[in-house]
Amino acid sequence: MVLLLALVVILSGEPALCLQEEGAFTLDGDIRQFAVTTDTVYIATEETLYQLSHSLTLVQSLSLRGILKEGKSVEEAQFHRVSETTERNATFNVHVLLPFVANKSLVSCGATDNGCGYCEVLDLNNIKTIIYSERIQVGPLRRSSGSVAFLMNIENRGTYILTALRKEERHSIKCNTDYNTVNIHDTSDEQGGGIFSTTDTSVIPPISSGGDVEFVDGFQINSTVYLLSNVQSGPRNNKVRLVWLTTNSSKTQTLRSLRGATLVVADGAESSRLVASSVIPGEPPVLWSGVFSVDGGQTNTELVVFDISPDLTIAVDQDPDFCFGTCTGSKPTPKRLKPKAVLLRQNYMTSVLALRQRVWMVFFMGTSDGQLIKLVVDKNYHPACLTVLYRANDNRPVFPKIHLDQVDHKHVYVALRHQVKRVPVSNCSTFTNLQECLSAQDPNCVWCSSKRSCEFEDDCKDSEWLSIPEDFHNDPVSYKLERSHAGQLKLIVQTHLTTRQKDLSGFACQFVGAFGEMCDRNNPPPQFPQCTCILRSGTLPDEGLNLTVRFRLGTVSFTEQLKLNNCSNIRGSPSSFLCERCVKSGCSWSKTGCSWDNLGVGNASVCQTIKSKMSFSPPEISSISPSVVSLYGRNHAVLSGYNLSDVTRVRFQRDTACAAQESPVWNNTGVNLTFHIPSTDYKGVVSVCVVLPDGSCHGNYGISYQSSPTCIRTEPNSTWFSGKRTITLIGSHLEFVEGVIHSHNPQDVTLPRSSNSGNLTYETAAAKSTQQSFFSSVSLKVANETLVCSTSFKYHPDPEFIAFNSLTTMGYVLIIVEKKKHELEMTTAELSVWGVHGGKQHPCIMTGKETSNKMEFFHCHIKNIPDVTFQELMIQYGDRTVRLGPPSLLPQVLLILRVLIPCMFVVLVMICRWQKKLTTEKKL
Ligand SMILES: *[C@@H]1O[C@H](CO)[C@@H](O)[C@H](O)[C@H]1NC(C)=O
Ligand SMILES: *[C@@H]1O[C@H](CO)[C@@H](O)[C@H](O)[C@H]1NC(C)=O
Ligand SMILES: *[C@@H]1O[C@H](CO)[C@@H](O)[C@H](O)[C@H]1NC(C)=O
Ligand SMILES: *[C@@H]1O[C@H](CO)[C@@H](O)[C@H](O)[C@H]1NC(C)=O
Ligand SMILES: *[C@@H]1O[C@H](CO)[C@@H](O)[C@H](O)[C@H]1NC(C)=O
Ligand SMILES: *[C@@H]1O[C@H](CO)[C@@H](O)[C@H](O)[C@H]1NC(C)=O
Ligand SMILES: *[C@@H]1O[C@H](CO)[C@@H](O)[C@H](O)[C@H]1NC(C)=O
Repeated sequence: MVLLLALVVILSGEPALCLQEEGAFTLDGDIRQFAVTTDTVYIATEETLYQLSHSLTLVQSLSLRGILKEGKSVEEAQFHRVSETTERNATFNVHVLLPFVANKSLVSCGATDNGCGYCEVLDLNNIKTIIYSERIQVGPLRRSSGSVAFLMNIENRGTYILTALRKEERHSIKCNTDYNTVNIHDTSDEQGGGIFSTTDTSVIPPISSGGDVEFVDGFQINSTVYLLSNVQSGPRNNKVRLVWLTTNSSKTQTLRSLRGATLVVADGAESSRLVASSVIPGEPPVLWSGVFSVDGGQTNTELVVFDISPDLTIAVDQDPDFCFGTCTGSKPTPKRLKPKAVLLRQNYMTSVLALRQRVWMVFFMGTSDGQLIKLVVDKNYHPACLTVLYRANDNRPVFPKIHLDQVDHKHVYVALRHQVKRVPVSNCSTFTNLQECLSAQDPNCVWCSSKRSCEFEDDCKDSEWLSIPEDFHNDPVSYKLERSHAGQLKLIVQTHLTTRQKDLSGFACQFVGAFGEMCDRNNPPPQFPQCTCILRSGTLPDEGLNLTVRFRLGTVSFTEQLKLNNCSNIRGSPSSFLCERCVKSGCSWSKTGCSWDNLGVGNASVCQTIKSKMSFSPPEISSISPSVVSLYGRNHAVLSGYNLSDVTRVRFQRDTACAAQESPVWNNTGVNLTFHIPSTDYKGVVSVCVVLPDGSCHGNYGISYQSSPTCIRTEPNSTWFSGKRTITLIGSHLEFVEGVIHSHNPQDVTLPRSSNSGNLTYETAAAKSTQQSFFSSVSLKVANETLVCSTSFKYHPDPEFIAFNSLTTMGYVLIIVEKKKHELEMTTAELSVWGVHGGKQHPCIMTGKETSNKMEFFHCHIKNIPDVTFQELMIQYGDRTVRLGPPSLLPQVLLILRVLIPCMFVVLVMICRWQKKLTTEKKL
């Protein structure tokens, strides 16, 4: 017993050791503040301030608990950390966390338990060393968002802390504070007013704002400060405002330089709100990306790019929403900035980080359903296929800030509730050959010639490499077919690559067909990135010509398979599909149809403008069931519509830049067809069309992928051998579960009886006859996946009913059923009882259950029945029916007492049992 106890202690002690997952650090509470310097990560939770290395190992932690010593006034209250072991009944809530690298300090400000401001300056390299502390408000006092604080430089004057506060954070009578909308605090005593002071040498008029302003972000680039906010302009109206400040000689001069603009995502869309923001690094113009909520809600969000370069031609202090000195009088409508591009529409985005990789822009977005998404965009704002870098298996929202690991530039830090993760920005090494490496469309990855592997550019410093081109291309190789007047066929092949190659003269191509070399001897020489082949034969076979092109560049070589078609053979009624086929075959499309490239327009974008005039009725999709699935997809989905008879496949496409997935059709009635919805790694909407034998795809229906099911526990956690016990499974996203499996009989899939997101009910299957109780773990079947529930479940022998007693009293018959006590924990709802009298069954309404050491007693009432003595009882549970013989000789007086004094029941029943035993013995 002692041994067992020790074992239990060891087992239950294990999670408390807090094993840290690779690339992640788990904190003692939800993340409140999160800041990063070159090599250190600082995180504040409610209880603790952490200092972590760039690879997320703990360096130091500082408790945010101590004693708040009340003084004569609130201002005199002082927060003390006496020692970690003494009484700690007050908390320092950190709302501002600013690493001040030049000063080797970390400024942490917030409020203590009395609700008033408090600040500490800590040693940046060892946060346990507190350099300075003061009871003062810098930044917000409350946790709610809507205020920002950041470090700001004024040339020749040093570094300051700029805070932009929401209305309710500005004044507190209790704490005797009175702040402006925008405040500039000193960071050292040498700056005039003393550390944290907001006064200037001159009197400082405020930057004020009339209505409620919610600040989203603020930062400085060179000598301009940018403040981004949502200004409510009506119950459902919102303006996204940008304020520029020029950091001039003094705090006052800086505030005086106020200019503003409005960011307009779409004309007339007055309800859009700014959710998150990130500057896109680079030379001027100043490009900036924002996540906007289109309708002000959480769901409908988009990533938009603006040019927010300051316009110094605007007069200062002429803004309707913010003012410095001139706060009255009518103000002109501010300048309206329009987006340069809308890059992505995706639900639930909450955060963004923008980076650059060569000419490419790389965006990382966090979502409130726990995804970290990466989107690569070329210099023409053309996005490649988005990828999911990380997905939390629950739906934990991603914290509004994402930071880059500045030591290796290969990871980003994301905060998910009580955990911070270091996620690689690319998985280059998973691509094993050049084609895979390039088709990943990831500018972070290069094909490294010397290592013959796909690497981060940094890891291929001393070698030549190949990477994707500066502008987006779906395929690494494209080609064109021209026919000269003399009837010669000219094939022009172009590679879409960026290379760091010293010598491009080594570029060569070889064109090989079934019968060897395909090109004429007097071919023009190759010129990177293009090769030309004058085909030996001036005609192409009707079925097309297969061709292999071997490219060589320095030490790297790769091949590409092409299929050449006779352009004039690509015929049919004009459709965008025919046009695409034409262009893909290296031919060009014109009004007259498909022809050799020297005649028409060879650009695939022309195909999207073509309105099909089809000679047949195209298939149409009217519904897909289900259209909301988990990440695992769904087997046997049903698609209904019209003209489906010829449909052979169903195509799934996330985005035009992404490769499509296809699924064969299983059963097709012309109006309905069944198919499998494949699994994916992406939560979001995917568009579905149906494919005809010629490859054309019709219809556009959205399927939404959502989180996968999880299960936490079952209620109850056992069943009896004969089965049919109703079990409720508790978890999340259980509506996607197709069946329940028990480990003792994995072939038998039980269908759910009903389910919703939080719970699912099913009936257990019977176990083959056994004597002993056994464990049988529960799994969920979702499409082709089997998810094991982390819960324990037991099969027990069927319940044993011993005897029953009945008593007529006050107009009804009371029945007590005696059952052997059992781990099954049967409830009254699981039993149905009938009294049998004269061949008739009288239902007995369950009224309760009592338990003694060894027995359980169920009682029920049979109403509207004359005084009868039931000779038999019929009991049903699951799909078993048992019959109990004549009642025992339970003294009626005890039953009457039981009815009158319910709490004595158990004691009485014990007496009854003892009496009964005596009666039996007497009989013997
Ligand atoms: C915290 O503890 C100190 C000293 O132990 C005590 O004076 C103070 O009243 C306590 N404050 C609260 C809020 O319990
Ligand atoms: C900031 O200043 C640096 C140095 O003068 C300059 O190279 C850079 O282009 C400027 N950046 C922006 C966005 O103006
Ligand atoms: C060309 O290759 C494809 C497979 O890639 C094959 O199905 C087809 O039959 C080949 N055509 C010819 C003419 O060899
Ligand atoms: C196809 O549908 C028919 C009629 O509904 C059904 O009998 C048949 O079993 C189905 N076949 C498959 C492979 O699902
Ligand atoms: C097609 O599917 C729908 C919905 O699943 C169903 O109501 C209808 O009866 C089906 N029609 C045929 C012909 O199978
Ligand atoms: C099963 O459930 C009962 C009551 O709900 C509980 O006391 C028991 O610990 C559970 N058993 C297991 C193995 O989880
Ligand atoms: C299951 O879900 C339904 C509907 O949301 C709810 O009424 C019920 O209480 C849930 N049952 C359990 C055991 O959580």
